[in-house]
Amino acid sequence: MIAIVASVKHAQKAQDAGADVLVAEGFEAAGINSNLEMTTFTLIPQISKHVTLPVLAAGGIGNGQGLAAALMLGASGVQLGTRLIATQEAPFHPSYKQKLVEAMGNDTVILGRSFGQVRRVLKDPYTEKVLDLEKQGLSPMNYREMTSEVHHINGAMNGDVTNGFMNSGQVAGLIDDIPTVKELLDGMMKDAKKQMEDGLSRLSAPFMI
Ligand SMILES: Cc1cc2nc3c(=O)[nH]c(=O)nc-3n(C[C@H](O)[C@H](O)[C@H](O)COP(=O)(O)O)c2cc1C
Repeated sequence: MIAIVASVKHAQKAQDAGADVLVAEGFEAAGINSNLEMTTFTLIPQISKHVTLPVLAAGGIGNGQGLAAALMLGASGVQLGTRLIATQEAPFHPSYKQKLVEAMGNDTVILGRSFGQVRRVLKDPYTEKVLDLEKQGLSPMNYREMTSEVHHINGAMNGDVTNGFMNSGQVAGLIDDIPTVKELLDGMMKDAKKQMEDGLSRLSAPFMI
């Protein structure tokens, strides 16, 4: 059993309940998220310290640097979301992939903060509308309808950003190509090794302020 967790308390509870592997997901991540708003950089070492299960890091990982960093923070591996959307094989609308290539890290927004049901998505006309309505007092029932799978399919599968949304993490700012999954993963593995070697050489004289 794999459990997705976003705090040490969740992680310990999942371990006690018999989980085999934990995915620890930071607030940078795409899609349905935890309202605890812990970042991956702080979450992974805290969880790794408090549980014995393997921990996979999720949220904000999209290249070899991210993979290397997650392993250094104590993760046994990583889970990718946003980065995998922008691959040749991903069965999503081409405009979704292109938007991820063009997006900067600050082109995502959080919907649902007022309901404690948060979701990170790309800024677009539909998600701006949901945010505006939320500010004006949208009901929880209408929020659920506006962020339902119907509207997810409209955006992600049909490319319709006036009637639907596209999940995205802040890592979108790192995406600048649409490789095959093999190219992506081979490149990440190779680059992670190089990042670790380069990091070791920087460790000999680090700046600490
Ligand atoms: C299109 C898409 C759909 C997702 N759907 C869900 C979901 O239904 N439930 C969930 O817990 N996480 C969902 N996620 C989050 C991923 O499982 C993953 O943990 C997250 O995207 C990792 O962060 P990253 O996007 O920064 O790589 C989704 C992510 C994407 C991109």
